[in-house]
Amino acid sequence: MISATALTRRFGGREVVRDVSFSVAPGEVVGFLGPNGAGKTTTMRMLLGLLRPSGGEGRIDGRVGYLPEAFTAYDAVSVRSYLRFMCRMKGVSIGDVDRAMELAGVGKLGRRPFGRLSKGQRQRVGLAQALLGRPGAYVLDEATIGLDPRQVVDARGLIRSLADDDRAAVLVSTHLLAEASAVCDRVVVIAAGRVVAEERPGAAGDLEARFLRLVGEAELT
Ligand SMILES: Nc1ncnc2c1ncn2[C@@H]1O[C@H](COP(=O)(O)OP(=O)(O)O)[C@@H](O)[C@H]1O
Ligand SMILES: [Mg+2]
Repeated sequence: MISATALTRRFGGREVVRDVSFSVAPGEVVGFLGPNGAGKTTTMRMLLGLLRPSGGEGRIDGRVGYLPEAFTAYDAVSVRSYLRFMCRMKGVSIGDVDRAMELAGVGKLGRRPFGRLSKGQRQRVGLAQALLGRPGAYVLDEATIGLDPRQVVDARGLIRSLADDDRAAVLVSTHLLAEASAVCDRVVVIAAGRVVAEERPGAAGDLEARFLRLVGEAELT
């Protein structure tokens, strides 16, 4: 279970996240949808305990897999060594490295130094480290950025299976409506730091028009 209760964050005098509440149940993929600068990354960092809220509370039950927005690793270290190191950091069995590499689509890149990977390959190493130890919750910040169309489809399939097969609670941020519609059970729309809508994609055929209107209204106020 992932839950945000009235999360608020100010930087200087500026309130960039205001009174944000939502939850993600086991077996559910929730999209955190909003334009750049809306407050998605800030909210996620508060949920993870990486950033202290100015108000409210974030909670995640059990172990969490986190894909940061600007994921990076050590250039000189091979993919496999990095993932083994991450297992030790997380306190999970290094026996899980092969499974995570396979699922994330980097099964053949074990010996490659991180610094010699393409952008999409790096992003998939980021996904692999999030999978280590089969956490019960995932916070994925712009999970498919940098992936080519084929890899996007694969990553979406993987995200769905985390909820459907592992019964994990998955929160995935995106600024792309199509992304949210393709993989999420529910979408929390954030604009200018506030939740402006919560709905099921697909339920409303005109979600795009509604999204643009909601975002426009929030930015004007
Ligand atoms: N450490 C920080 N100091 C000051 N402002 C910040 C900081 N982190 C984020 N912000 C501001 O907070 C707002 C929300 O940023 P962010 O959460 O990264 O949005 P998103 O992930 O939705 O694109 C932006 O205006 C950003 O410039
Ligand atoms: Mg962000």
